[in-house]
Amino acid sequence: MKTFIFDLDGVLVFTDKFHYQAWKKMADRLGIYFDEEINNRLRGVSRMESLEIILEKSTKKYSDEEKNDLAEEKNNYYRELLKSMTPEDVEPAVRRTLAELRGRGHKLAIGSSSKNTKFILRQTALMDEFDAISDGTNIIKSKPDPEVFLKAAFFVGDRPENCIVVEDAYAGIDAAKAGGMLAAGIGDAEHYEKTDYPLKKFEDILQIPNV
Ligand code: BG6
Ligand code: MG
Repeated sequence: MKTFIFDLDGVLVFTDKFHYQAWKKMADRLGIYFDEEINNRLRGVSRMESLEIILEKSTKKYSDEEKNDLAEEKNNYYRELLKSMTPEDVEPAVRRTLAELRGRGHKLAIGSSSKNTKFILRQTALMDEFDAISDGTNIIKSKPDPEVFLKAAFFVGDRPENCIVVEDAYAGIDAAKAGGMLAAGIGDAEHYEKTDYPLKKFEDILQIPNV
């Protein structure tokens, strides 16, 4: 029996476009250049670290208070967009795979940097699928630090060596390895050299040896 720890954004649901639209709206208002390529650098990165990356293109210096306001502005735009999410935003193959893993006796947890994790899980009716949720609200250091995954393992009461992390971001694979866990990579992370199990599609999790 293993514990599977799933990243949320880019693995179970696809919120990239909403993050992009929300950051873009804020950046446009401030007259700061922002594009999809910069957005790709924000994957797996915390909200405040994401803001710092966006502000690299700004000539103006922002105080900590102004930065907090900007992060909140973006999050308000983002949450408005998240309201449009429904259970249909989760692919049937994802639900089937989670149910099959549970049926095989594995434990399932979430390990996400997002402070909106529970909101997204409720919108998409995924909340009851997991034994534990470790997210941006219970960590101090974000990925590539392993804290979010180590907390997930602690919440389900399993050892890190018995956990398999499913991730789409390089920072997430680095975090899993730093925590002494195995890492399955999907999307961008499929071809990352540190990935133990490359996944072409989500249901390939079921083909991992001894799963
Ligand atoms: C991660 C996303 O899951 O959560 C990042 O990949 C995002 O792009 C981070 O910045 C923090 O999200 P939130 O919802 O707390 O602003
Ligand atoms: Mg991700």
